[in-house]
Amino acid sequence: MTDLFSPLRLGAIELPNRVVMSSLTRNRAGEGNVPTDLMVEYYRQRASAGLILTEASPVCAEGHGYPRTPGIHTAEQIAGWRKVTDAVHAAGGRIAIQLWHVGRISHPDLQPDGAAPVAPSALRPAGQAVTFTGMQDYVTPRALETAEIPGVIAAFAQAAKNAMAAGFDGVEIHGGNGYLVDQFLRSSTNQRSDAYGGSKENRARLLLEIIAAVTAAICNDRVGLRLSPVTPFNDISDTNPQATFDYVVGELNRFDLAFLDILQGTGGSPQEQWLPFDYARLRAIYKGNLILNNGYDFASAQQAIASGAAAAIAFGRALLANPDLVERFRRGAPLNQPDYERLYVGEEKGYTDYPFLPA
Ligand SMILES: Cc1cc2nc3c(=O)[nH]c(=O)nc-3n(C[C@H](O)[C@H](O)[C@H](O)COP(=O)(O)O)c2cc1C
Repeated sequence: MTDLFSPLRLGAIELPNRVVMSSLTRNRAGEGNVPTDLMVEYYRQRASAGLILTEASPVCAEGHGYPRTPGIHTAEQIAGWRKVTDAVHAAGGRIAIQLWHVGRISHPDLQPDGAAPVAPSALRPAGQAVTFTGMQDYVTPRALETAEIPGVIAAFAQAAKNAMAAGFDGVEIHGGNGYLVDQFLRSSTNQRSDAYGGSKENRARLLLEIIAAVTAAICNDRVGLRLSPVTPFNDISDTNPQATFDYVVGELNRFDLAFLDILQGTGGSPQEQWLPFDYARLRAIYKGNLILNNGYDFASAQQAIASGAAAAIAFGRALLANPDLVERFRRGAPLNQPDYERLYVGEEKGYTDYPFLPA
């Protein structure tokens, strides 16, 4: 019977098990948003996961929206990531980087020359940005000119090439959680009147052009995508998410990606509180490997794999707090709980000091 411990091939990436580490922002990058030796240790500790998806990593300077998030757009960042990938590979693991552009979820303090963040439309998000001087209200972003869009697409393609130079096994394009790609996809944040706004076909155009450029840059069998059809995180919504995402997922079939990673429901909330959405329909439309995520434990993950709902499961908080999660699942051992006070602060505390099971 296929289960969490069964091997799996995702495009060109061979996984020894189906426990995927979900992307987790931890805000511990160094000067110049360069990965540090502490990050090397953190990822090395988690190398027994079938596949590590790194924390979201901006593809260009304008793509940053939080302090100390590691980029993948400078030579120093590539060299820093190389240490991470070497360590994970030496420990027997596999690692793909999540490619990110935050769009409007930023602040002038985090932007080059103090400029306004960019977005599909000049619509200010509710809420506050995390800046170097504390929380500050989001500002009204600047709507990207149509002529600027090829530059955004090129940044994703270049970042994917940089990821290959840094030794990654693949990339995951971040198309979810209310960031730039999602801001184009969902109707509440996209009021454009050009070819990138209006109909679902137009709202999906940026994502599909990014995928075309990234797969051309590094080959489709190392490219995955994350979507989160109904999460309201970062003040986003869609008037008809089922229609939008049925269309998007259907279009993905022509790219034959390594995987599609779906964050179901609302991040962090119990399954019974998820907004209604037919994920089985996406499974039926999509021809490739599906990774499901959000709130899974061992039993529900086994069930999702056994039923064919998912090829693999992405675990966020469980892998954050249990570097040896695969072994704990094997032994039926209890899990460490995450230290929620230190998700985004604390250097090694709540980061690289979670205990492993005794050998
Ligand atoms: C501390 C923290 C940071 C996160 N950072 C990211 C991120 O960078 N990119 C992303 O796509 N999701 C991010 N997420 C969402 C997780 O990948 C995942 O979808 C969520 O934790 C639900 O999975 P879980 O129930 O297994 O934890 C983050 C979640 C947490 C708790």
